[in-house]
Amino acid sequence: MRVLLTGGSGFIGSHIALLLLERGFDVLILDSYVNSSSNVINRIKAYLDKKDLNYKLKSINGDIRDKKLLDNIFIDSIKEKKPIDTVIHLAGLKSVSESFSNPLHYWDVNVIGTLNLLLTMKEYKCYSLVFSSSATIYGLSNSVPMAEDHKISPINPYGKTKVAIENMIYDLYNSNINVWKICSLRYFNPVGAHPSGLIGEDPIGIPNNLFPYLTQVAIGRQKSLNIYGNDWDTDDGSGIRDYIHIIDLAEGHLASIDYLNSKESCLEFVNLGSGKGYSVFQIIRQFELSTGCKIPFSIESRRDGDVAKSYADISKAKKLLAWTPKRSLEQICLDGWNWQLKNPYGFQ
Ligand code: WQD
Repeated sequence: MRVLLTGGSGFIGSHIALLLLERGFDVLILDSYVNSSSNVINRIKAYLDKKDLNYKLKSINGDIRDKKLLDNIFIDSIKEKKPIDTVIHLAGLKSVSESFSNPLHYWDVNVIGTLNLLLTMKEYKCYSLVFSSSATIYGLSNSVPMAEDHKISPINPYGKTKVAIENMIYDLYNSNINVWKICSLRYFNPVGAHPSGLIGEDPIGIPNNLFPYLTQVAIGRQKSLNIYGNDWDTDDGSGIRDYIHIIDLAEGHLASIDYLNSKESCLEFVNLGSGKGYSVFQIIRQFELSTGCKIPFSIESRRDGDVAKSYADISKAKKLLAWTPKRSLEQICLDGWNWQLKNPYGFQ
């Protein structure tokens, strides 16, 4: 089976690519490298070579807004007699804070880019799609844990682009319900790294997200962790999130492909999270316990677009995809630290 993996050299994409290749899928990675390093491809190959695995991997440097490029990718696959069976679509911008300062760029890349991709898939009769959505679409949590029927009310432009794409997907499916097979996966907070330490999270510039910032404090690249608010409506006052090990998340994508392959047509929106909520202070404590590192921090004011609590009800994923997260918060800390220790400056 041939899978087109857009955004396949990013943190999430690279881990999905590795699992797909280990499973014997033929993988085409399309990435603009705007928020990732092309070194990831060599790391993936090094890992598979070390395991003496045969694999079929091709990487294409490009932007999903380039319709001509997308056409050529599908046309070339047909010419090679290896048409694209499924698209896992991750390519997009994902910083909540950056989406406030540059909203039109987010609408352009995330929404216009996805529109391009869906038009191309339709044109070349590729009707199987796994889409990278986000728990950010839920916005302020009325109640936790949040199930898929939770109110959708994004409070930042990034989340609004994800809602727009889910609406596009919904309309596309309903325009021809006998052919499309779509899973929209709503990620909570993907963290950690592949246990080999060969790939992991390597944000460009100063990390927006807690976990990579924390591992950079531990390795000495950042002086101290800013905790954005200790006056949230939570037990210890810091924000609560659902941290899911990146390999559990990647396995959720393979389970989605298996699910799509078992259906004639379908449209499903599914949460992918650990199902547990941990506060910032709990993360710091677990990380220090697991790694022996000391994490200095200071309390700062809240960030725009933040919410107090967000963690997933994952019963639908368990039932529909026969998937369940296996890795603990301790494993997340150990694997995340192992990656950072082996790669103090990421993929550079
Ligand atoms: C987690 C908690 C912060 C940084 C992310 C992605 C977004 C989406 C959802 C995929 C919050 C606190 C953070 C720091 C801190 N992912 N924090 N100091 O905000 O849940 O959003 O997941 O779609 O793209 O951004 O994750 O890691 O930024 O914040 O105190 O330096 O840690 O206030 O409570 P968030 P995060």
